[in-house]
Amino acid sequence: MQTSSIHGMWSSRLAFILAATGSAVGLGNIWRFPYITSENGGGAFVLIYLLCILAVGLPIMFSEIVIGRRGRMSPINSIRELSDDAKATRAWMGLGFLGVIAGFIILSFYSVVAGWTLHYGFAYLKELVGMGAPITDPGETFENLLASAGELTFWHGLFMLMTVGVVAFGVEKGLERAVTILMPLLFVLLLILLGYGMNTGSFQEAVGFLFRPDWSQVSGPMIVTAMGQAFFTLSLGMCAIMTYGAYLPSDVNIPKVGTTVAISDTVVALIAGLAIFPIVISFGIDPGSGGAGLIFTSLPLAFSEMPFGIAYGMAFFLLLSVAAWTSAISLMEPATAYLVEATDLSRKAAALCVAAFAWMLGLATVFSFNIWSEVSIGGKSIMDALDYVAADVMLPIGGLLTALFAGWVLSKKITREELDEKMPDWAFNAWLWLTRIVTPALILVVLASLLGIL
Ligand code: PHE
Repeated sequence: MQTSSIHGMWSSRLAFILAATGSAVGLGNIWRFPYITSENGGGAFVLIYLLCILAVGLPIMFSEIVIGRRGRMSPINSIRELSDDAKATRAWMGLGFLGVIAGFIILSFYSVVAGWTLHYGFAYLKELVGMGAPITDPGETFENLLASAGELTFWHGLFMLMTVGVVAFGVEKGLERAVTILMPLLFVLLLILLGYGMNTGSFQEAVGFLFRPDWSQVSGPMIVTAMGQAFFTLSLGMCAIMTYGAYLPSDVNIPKVGTTVAISDTVVALIAGLAIFPIVISFGIDPGSGGAGLIFTSLPLAFSEMPFGIAYGMAFFLLLSVAAWTSAISLMEPATAYLVEATDLSRKAAALCVAAFAWMLGLATVFSFNIWSEVSIGGKSIMDALDYVAADVMLPIGGLLTALFAGWVLSKKITREELDEKMPDWAFNAWLWLTRIVTPALILVVLASLLGIL
């Protein structure tokens, strides 16, 4: 059994928790969760999403960390080693490749949206120092940003450079230092926003929208979206958490850290929802009006009214950029680690290749808002189509394969050793049968509805 990885190691249990939480908490919680909740009618969607976190997300979270830590390499090579050891087919490596491809696609549009948040953060900063005009009509400001391919490309590029800057320096020096400082800061700023949301007078209504289920809203596509969101927000199904697991010291208890990460991520999403929807409602916006611009068009309304709103707006959008940054790092890491193992490239060169490729792919998303805005793929814009294929289709398939691999290919001896040798039998068996049968079956049922079979 390997006790360390050639790519480096997290220095402690806490470092892993911070890094994995940094990966999980990002635009998925603060941008994607509110807007797709809005589009899917609120309460019922939120409850199904929470159910997916519990029944699908948690067992797969454990599985990914187990596979990563046992293999100690990039996902593709960890899976190859473990398949060889178990005398299983190397076709399982396909899971690693699927993860790397999903990672590229997600990183490509993720970086564009993170670019929007950077743009807003700096726009408020400029206003604060008296060099920029105030945002008077947030809807128009957002439209103007999307219409400018040049602006979008610039911010997308800047964000990609920030990300590659961290990944290039490797685990301890880059990733860990960045997350230990930035994560706690993020949480404090979110709590302040929640405090504001509670004082808007629309808090009750927002709570009702988020948690009172209207079961008539439930449909096949809605469940697919809820499960996709569970995967996306926990960074599961594309081997990102598996990659981070490879750098986890052997003595750390996987069920404990895995549960901590999942709970933190869910709490952040719910706090974000509770902070944002009161603002949306109190400004007379229909909470069901949706759209990827939701937070960009609603929150500036609040910032323009609240005391110190400009400073607050700046802090909020820069905070969101930071959250996105720590997630993007984990989107870039699996492909980078694989390139380091499979080629002669140094870590820096490998990271640069990954970033350059993802940046170019991101241009398709940039253009989907302006010069290619007419292009529609199955009724979706290019960005929506990329998001849908990666998050709602590829991540669940990756998760399905991850669960089957951990449950059936790895021996019970190995999984037990990795999870926690002192774990009571019932707890181990609960994980084992969830992972072997229940979780894969749930994913299959949801994916089948996608194909229109059910
Ligand atoms: N979990 C991240 C977020 O919610 C996005 C992400 C998805 C990161 C998949 C890594 C892997 O913003």
